[in-house]
Amino acid sequence: MGDELGQLVPDDEAAAGSVGEQPWWQRSAVYQVYPRSFADSDGDGVGDLEGVRQHLDHIASLGAEAVWLSPVFPSPMADFGYDVSDYCDIDPVFGSLEVFDALVGDAHDRGLRVVLDWVANHTSEEHPWFVESRSSRDNPRRDWYVWADPGPDGGPPNDWTSAFRAVGPAWTLDEDTGQYYLHSFAPQQPDLNWDNPEVEQALHDTVRFWLDRGVDGLRLDAIIKVAKDPLLRDTGAAGLPHHEDWETIHDRLARLRQVVDEYPDRMLVGELWARDLPRFVTFLSGTGMHLAHNFELVELPWDAGAYRDFIDRFEAEAASVPGLWPCWFLENHDLPRVASRFGAGELGSRRARGILFLIHLLRGTPFVYQGQELGLPDAVVPPEHVVDVDGRDPERAPIPWERPSVVGPGAGFTTGAPWLPLVEDAEQLCVAAQEDDPASTLHLTRRIAALRRRTVALSGGSQVTVDVGPEVLAWVREGAGERYLAMVSFAARQCRPSFGPDVPEEADVVLRTSPERTAGDDTGASVRLSELVLEPGEGVLLRLPVTG
Ligand code: GLC
Repeated sequence: MGDELGQLVPDDEAAAGSVGEQPWWQRSAVYQVYPRSFADSDGDGVGDLEGVRQHLDHIASLGAEAVWLSPVFPSPMADFGYDVSDYCDIDPVFGSLEVFDALVGDAHDRGLRVVLDWVANHTSEEHPWFVESRSSRDNPRRDWYVWADPGPDGGPPNDWTSAFRAVGPAWTLDEDTGQYYLHSFAPQQPDLNWDNPEVEQALHDTVRFWLDRGVDGLRLDAIIKVAKDPLLRDTGAAGLPHHEDWETIHDRLARLRQVVDEYPDRMLVGELWARDLPRFVTFLSGTGMHLAHNFELVELPWDAGAYRDFIDRFEAEAASVPGLWPCWFLENHDLPRVASRFGAGELGSRRARGILFLIHLLRGTPFVYQGQELGLPDAVVPPEHVVDVDGRDPERAPIPWERPSVVGPGAGFTTGAPWLPLVEDAEQLCVAAQEDDPASTLHLTRRIAALRRRTVALSGGSQVTVDVGPEVLAWVREGAGERYLAMVSFAARQCRPSFGPDVPEEADVVLRTSPERTAGDDTGASVRLSELVLEPGEGVLLRLPVTG
């Protein structure tokens, strides 16, 4: 898919994207709120729905199209909401159904859609279904979960392990009934048995409950795990997995899609750790999900060539699936922050700005994780404050809204004691401080998002990567009679892209992400490409003349 700059072929069908009317989930960013850490309205130290409601203008100001809320359902919080004990209510720590309805109404008034996290693979051990299921071997709900007799040695029935490394085997023995139950995550999260049609029906009913309430979409948590080998055979060292991605998965997703399609304009985005790209794209065929998060990108090293190779392979696979629309993300509540992952301090912060540019200006939907618009690093969480079983506390640090020197140590997140420590530099990184600084990452995010929104070539145009040297990722977007060259530097020092002879000598600078540039000193000016120097981590967008 890559090309030499200046030898671009006209839009071909596969890469063309859509320059016409786009569905909402393609138009602009989906902003992920992790409600426990967003804003606390009642001083208990834990964020809540009223807090989200009070900050909807902030989200709207980022040019987002939708808000995805991590789980807010009743939960014992063994996995902070990803262990659901009632699919059709709101946990009191987050609010109530009334507050939720008000939030949806307020979001819609601002043109923001609301996407809920749907945890279909497992419930909490305290869900009434599991309480019944574990009560006896002949309980009518026994078969709603995955139960199995001990292996020959009395140990777990097979070799499946939990996705949480610290947990080990994915099985826990229920002493009272003498069988093991399956948990792909923590022991407090027993896996539902999706081979039982009653389970599928019950889960579909939970979807209807929220769609009837005006929810616009669902993020499908760990969705690949809802289909497993019903014979519970060992996954073994090689070959196809048996603990997930079983052949039944596509039919299950198609039936879920039918439920969602009973409602107009709704969207499904899956968390999809597929085994490879050819497999990944099969989930986006039109009968499955609208969007899916691919985790290959987030595991790449900081290397322009690795990114380009991934983008090219993705687009090549995507070409086999008509209408496939990518989405791009590097942060969420399970992953270290970009500003810490790719170098600390100033370098990390510059790279975080470059990544905001990248995810908004590649062909596809950007997913922005709360705090990414501030360039937040991971927080330092001392051992006595660790609460997560899988080491994910640092990226879940609460959002600093105000200067601690003005409002106290809760930084406007809470008036109480925050459930996790905030980032160390809340004084400089908080929303209020960044509002006051035109060169801040917050203002940069707004500028990039606004640019994408008003530029058809960037939101829906074609895309092709181009070669401008080993340290710079570069791609061209084209549509509606306009042509743009986007670049992100992966170098740790200043560097010069190398352009081929076919490139115009001059181009207009539309946007640069470096703090010393974003104050507006050279934006809009014409630049001689032979003289262009990129700062570390910098994203630069140039408007190119359109050739015949
Ligand atoms: C997904 C969620 C993660 C959670 C897990 C189990 O990976 O993103 O936070 O722990 O599923 O529900």
